[in-house]
Amino acid sequence: MTSRHLEPIQPGADAPDGEHIEPPSVPIRVSVAVVEDSDVVRERMVDQLGHGVTPFATIEELTARLTGTVPVVVVLGPSCATEDALAISERVMQQYPMLATVLVVEELTTTLLQQALRAGVRDVLALTGDSNTLAQAVQRLAVGLDQSPRASAAPSEATPSAEAPASEADPLEVVNGEVLTVFSTKGGAGKSVLATSLAVTLAQRSDKPVCLVDADLQFGDVAVMLKLTPHHTIVDAVSVLDRMDAPLLESLLVTHEPSGLRVLPPPLEPAFADQVGAAEMVAIVEMLRSFCSYVIVDTPAYFNDVVLGLVEVSDKVMLVAGMDIPNIKNVKIGLQTLRLLNTPMEKLLLVLNRSDSKVKLDIGEVERTLQITADALIPSDVVVPQSVNKGEPVVMHSPKSGVSKAITSLAEQFLPTAAKAPPTTGSRFRR
Ligand SMILES: Nc1ncnc2c1ncn2[C@@H]1O[C@H](COP(=O)(O)OP(=O)(O)O)[C@@H](O)[C@H]1O
Ligand SMILES: [Mg+2]
Repeated sequence: MTSRHLEPIQPGADAPDGEHIEPPSVPIRVSVAVVEDSDVVRERMVDQLGHGVTPFATIEELTARLTGTVPVVVVLGPSCATEDALAISERVMQQYPMLATVLVVEELTTTLLQQALRAGVRDVLALTGDSNTLAQAVQRLAVGLDQSPRASAAPSEATPSAEAPASEADPLEVVNGEVLTVFSTKGGAGKSVLATSLAVTLAQRSDKPVCLVDADLQFGDVAVMLKLTPHHTIVDAVSVLDRMDAPLLESLLVTHEPSGLRVLPPPLEPAFADQVGAAEMVAIVEMLRSFCSYVIVDTPAYFNDVVLGLVEVSDKVMLVAGMDIPNIKNVKIGLQTLRLLNTPMEKLLLVLNRSDSKVKLDIGEVERTLQITADALIPSDVVVPQSVNKGEPVVMHSPKSGVSKAITSLAEQFLPTAAKAPPTTGSRFRR
């Protein structure tokens, strides 16, 4: 292990698995270091990350090579998953702000995850996980480091060097995306079906990231409906909220590869739901909208503090109603509650799901009862349960179906070109 130097990587390059991350506007050099005591494990990690990675046996060995002038993604191996090693890594990160660290552990536990995130580690992954996951995590951190305002500010102890970052990285652009919440006061109305397909459609048509938050904290279905295996959940985001920034939050999201949609999954167990309060949820959504063009939120079928907080920060709230009397009754109560809470009615969109159901209830009757005109009519179709059971959003599973066309045209109401068109939609109340 002689004459090592940190090999730079280009953050915009393809990750080893072929996942492409948008190149930053001004490319700068980001190095990748692997720190692991065990030769076998270290070599395995280096193999997973491909060429251009510099291996070290200890954090001290790595520290001896740092100049503070090049951003470095540090991949800590399982031998670093100790309190002592994490404390050393935290000190090194304080000394060199241009470092971002990911920890690879034998077995992912909530305790270890929290301990690592508190020590400033950006991401924690299991060694046994999919080998692409590590490469993707490193790539994301490299891009985050490259775009971080800190990357342009050399630390005071840095030695001026020819390897200094080539760019004066711009401060992170603040996007201020739209928050679109899907709500219904009735379970099974079709909220999660609508939220997933709407989010996927917006993700496919947006240049900036689009995020789907599953705020059904006890029984969220979004991950299952998109066939995702989350590594982190909203509980992890809450546990590091006091030191949260956009790159850290982004590293906790799971990507739906077919569409590029980013997803923040709900707690793994219903018992953890009460760790997420309204203030935490709102803080997370506000941070997401700072780098996402759209934040779509799926909700449970009842009002609670979290839902009320979300309604307040949302730009639009889609009320989903099925075509039967209990659905309509519950949506009516939901609307009355929202009125009492002084929710601006312009925020609300009524979505009638299974609107063509032969249930002796016609759309006009429903609209009259609710005193609101429907903004979207989604037909009933067997392709919906079929797509749900395959873990595919219906807009990708059966793009030509009437359901997909209805959801796509609803999504288009939120897209910029549609926004420029004369407003043919929007909730209109009949007095
Ligand atoms: N338009 C539709 N046509 C046929 N089935 C539908 C439709 N919308 C929803 N469903 C079915 O209803 C079930 C409940 O939908 P879901 O989105 O999970 O409801 P919620 O999230 O409101 O509880 C799903 O399993 C889905 O298969
Ligand atoms: Mg649901």
